[in-house]
Amino acid sequence: MSDQPRCPVVHFDHHSADHAKNHVANYRKLREETPVSWTDAHGGFWVLADYKAVFEASRDDEIFSSARHDEYGGPGLSVTIPKAPTAFHIPIELDPPDFRPYRKAVNKVTAPAAVENLDGVIKHYVTGFIDTIIEKGNADLAIVAAVPAAVTIDWLGLDPSEYKNYVDAMHTLVSAAPGTPEYVHAAEVAVPWVSRTVRDHIAYRRENPGTDATTHFINVDVDDRTMTDDEIYSILELVISGGVGTTASLVTQSLVWLYENPDQRQRLIDDPSMVDIAVEEFLRVFSPTQALARTILQDTDFQGCPVRSGDRALLSWASANRDAEQFESPDEVDITRWPNRHVAFGLGIHRCAGSHLGKAMAREMIRQVLARMGDYVVDMDRLVTYPDQGTNAGFHSIPVTFTPGERLLGDTPLFADHYTKIGA
Ligand code: HEM
Repeated sequence: MSDQPRCPVVHFDHHSADHAKNHVANYRKLREETPVSWTDAHGGFWVLADYKAVFEASRDDEIFSSARHDEYGGPGLSVTIPKAPTAFHIPIELDPPDFRPYRKAVNKVTAPAAVENLDGVIKHYVTGFIDTIIEKGNADLAIVAAVPAAVTIDWLGLDPSEYKNYVDAMHTLVSAAPGTPEYVHAAEVAVPWVSRTVRDHIAYRRENPGTDATTHFINVDVDDRTMTDDEIYSILELVISGGVGTTASLVTQSLVWLYENPDQRQRLIDDPSMVDIAVEEFLRVFSPTQALARTILQDTDFQGCPVRSGDRALLSWASANRDAEQFESPDEVDITRWPNRHVAFGLGIHRCAGSHLGKAMAREMIRQVLARMGDYVVDMDRLVTYPDQGTNAGFHSIPVTFTPGERLLGDTPLFADHYTKIGA
């Protein structure tokens, strides 16, 4: 087995400028011609493009490991190619059995009932961020991208007025091309700031327990013991990284599509209860997290290809989500599609822990934008997409004009005072 050449070989680089423009077409070609293929980009890796391959790999943790293996592909986050320079992330960088108790601890604060408790917080930030632009009649609609960051930071008990620093750190690592000045700034300046601030917060909360998710992680039992500061930090950095960018990516893409499809936009304005099902379809077609990686731990034959221990593999959720074997008319956006077994949140044991929170935020953002500024017109010539669409796809800037409306928060401040006093 191990002497066999890796094949078929394709030219594929999900971080290239070509891929940023043509990711849907690039994945379609792979899916149709070589659903499992090898590329030499970034030190070499397998690309899994059809639903079947992505499904099988993400459910086989013994061969397709999520754990950090610095000996294969260098140091860094195991689930990106190349590996992002982040702290060790729990539970995403663990395989069973180590994985299980940590995931159980995370589930307690991300389950549907826990997310329902965040309804008020979500509404507050969606209302407040729309308030910042509503009277002007022209603005950057990408401001809604601030909501998931503020909600996540608030939920952890950190200072939500500093939300932008967290976006600059964690979101830039997955939306800027590796090696670019923004990426280097994120890795060398912004991420260390996050690390200092969050570690100080953990220490503060040990002495001053609150009602936030950080306090939960300090107190929760993992295998009959509480966690160390390092373990808690590993979870918090992952949650911030998962929480700040993905939902923004989903909502920005959905809002631009709704502008381009005014009849569909009108349907959602006329019947906002349709937004829940529409969001599932937006998740499928826009796949905010386009693809994530695994490390192969055994020589084996996978879908006719000779994969080897130590090889890296990229599982494209975005491509699986447009597989015609699984979805009728996969390139058509049908906001009433149901059932919709998309894999935008991944598959198997690592399926997104924040899916309920992500969906709750996306629904509220889309509903409020449509209700309060539903006639928005996008200046399509000035749209700015993420420079790199390899891991997260979406828009940095969406210049719009619309009929001005009223602010709704009144005297309530967007960022409550008490957060800024924590640790002061
Ligand atoms: C539209 C929004 C979101 C999308 C598309 C998304 C996507 C994903 C995907 C594809 C995975 C699977 C990773 C893998 O298999 O390697 C994942 C895992 C994860 N996500 Fe999300 N995510 C979203 C929102 C969130 C939010 C808001 C949070 C914050 C709580 C979050 C936290 C996590 C965590 C903690 C994991 C790791 C789960 C594990 O390893 O068991 N995500 N997400």
